[in-house]
This record gives sequence, C-alpha cells and structure tokens, in this order.
Amino acid sequence: MSATIISGTEIAQAIRHETQARIDALKTQHNFVPGLATVLVGDDPASHAYVGMKNKTAKEMGIYSRQITLGADTPEEELLGIVAGLNADPQIHGILVQLPLPKQIDEGKILLAIDPAKDVDGFHPINVGKLATGETEVLAPCTPAGVIEMLLRTGNDPAGKHCVVVGRSNIVGRPMASLLLRKGRGGNATVTVCHSRTRDLGAVTRLADILIVAIGIPEFIRGDMIRPGAVVIDVGVNRVDDPTREKGYRLVGDVAFEEAKEVASAITPVPGGVGPMTITMLMSNTVDAAVRLAGIRE
Ligand code: GUN
Repeated sequence: MSATIISGTEIAQAIRHETQARIDALKTQHNFVPGLATVLVGDDPASHAYVGMKNKTAKEMGIYSRQITLGADTPEEELLGIVAGLNADPQIHGILVQLPLPKQIDEGKILLAIDPAKDVDGFHPINVGKLATGETEVLAPCTPAGVIEMLLRTGNDPAGKHCVVVGRSNIVGRPMASLLLRKGRGGNATVTVCHSRTRDLGAVTRLADILIVAIGIPEFIRGDMIRPGAVVIDVGVNRVDDPTREKGYRLVGDVAFEEAKEVASAITPVPGGVGPMTITMLMSNTVDAAVRLAGIRE
C-alpha cells in the first residue's frame, strides 16, 4: 500500500485565497492595509531566502511590507531600538525577527521586546503562555498552526487521536503540542512529546495515530518506527549532499519518505509539504493581528 500524499502546496494555496479575500475586503470596505515588518540580522543564506519569500508573498497579497536588513555585528541595543520603533509604528501590525540571531544578541530579550499584539510569530512569552493555557484567540506559531490546518483539511482531525510529536523546539515541537492539546478546533488530541533523549523512541512513535516529526535530523524516522495506517507529518527540511543535482544537494525531511509511504496512510512530502504552509500562516496571522489592532469587525 502506498500512502496518500498530503500536498502542502495545494492546501497553502487554498488558505492563501481565503486570506486574499480578507485583505481585499479590508481595502474596499475599510480602506485599510495590514502591514508586516521583517527584521533580518546577519548573512545566513537560508534566513535571507526565507525572509525574502515572506516579503515577496506579503507584497503580492497587498500587505504593506517592510524588510529591515542589518549587519551580523549589529549591537543588541540597536535591534531593541528598531523593535521599539516598529511597536510604535501605526502602519505596522506584524513584526517578525528572523531567528537565529547572531550570538551577541540575546534572543529572549528581543522576543520579549516585541509588542505581543504584533507578534505574528507567536514567540513572545505572553503568547506562548496564552497558547499553553488553552486560549484560542492567540497568535500561534506559523509552522505548527500550518500543520493543524493540513490535518483538518485532509479529514484527519486530531480530536481523540494519539498524536506523537518528535522534537521539543520553541518554534515547532512545544507549540505543536499546545495546539493539539487545546480545547477547540484542531485540538482535543492525546499528546506525547518525545525527543533526542527519549528511550526506545521507536516504541513511542509506533503508538501514534498521527506522527509529527520536527527533530532536524535527515531521514531520522524509518518505516519500522511508524504504525501501519498512521498519518505522518514531516516538518524537517535538511540539505544532504547530492552530486547528481545541479546545486550539489537535495532536500530531505526528518522521515525516510520512501520507506514511510509504504506504511503510513497519508504523508507529507519534502519539499512541497509543511514548508509552503508556514508563509501562508504568517500572512493569515498578520491579517488577524491587523484586524484586532484596528478594532475592525470583518
Ligand atoms: N527561523 C526558523 N523558522 C522561523 C520562524 O517561523 N520565524 C522566525 N522568526 N524565525 C524562524
């Protein structure tokens, strides 16, 4: 049996259309334009590519978009000043500081400085706390929020299911568990979180009805770690050397796809799986933040 492929590209497109309709209505009915600021510090090529795509998408959708690019040696004080300026700027409703930051900058301090109402990444401790305590009206981190949409829109509602999350990062694993646990849409799951220090990890992952993997190790989850018929969501994006490719590398997930697709009932590919969802959910969060800040009833 070969698994159904869950196309993030298609689901992202559908959500993008819904968000586009909201943006168009805000413009025509309220003469209102949501604004997003992205801040990029340093010269990590992957971060440049991600932030570039976020701005391009925002512009294409009619969101006012401002990218601030700073050198790798930017002092923490300077970045704090920029964040304070964006917090006070009425044209800006969403602020995203791309992570990771250079080592002279305390990431926690920067995230704490962002106005929680403009925190479209959902990384501010107030928003993390709201999500963890089960609030539904909260800006949730984009990647795990995207995973929930993928599950719901493919008929795989997590409610009542055993969801096993592999990975405990602040960007994916932890907020993923909070979203799945929450009462309400996309939640009500039984949740197990495991990680690199979990003993006999395969014994845990084999219990999953829905297995969500975000551990950052190429092809870490093998076919025999998956329960037959499980739904597998692969959040990993890893470059592995491949001299047969023009670029010299190819992208693989955290799941050994060829093995996994013979065991799972449904699986996300890499690329074209979770990846496209993240940017789409960022646009949706930006519109949510803007509407709340402006007090507009849609
Ligand atoms: N670095 C990797 N993923 C993300 C993300 O979703 N948001 C931010 N700000 N930085 C990241």
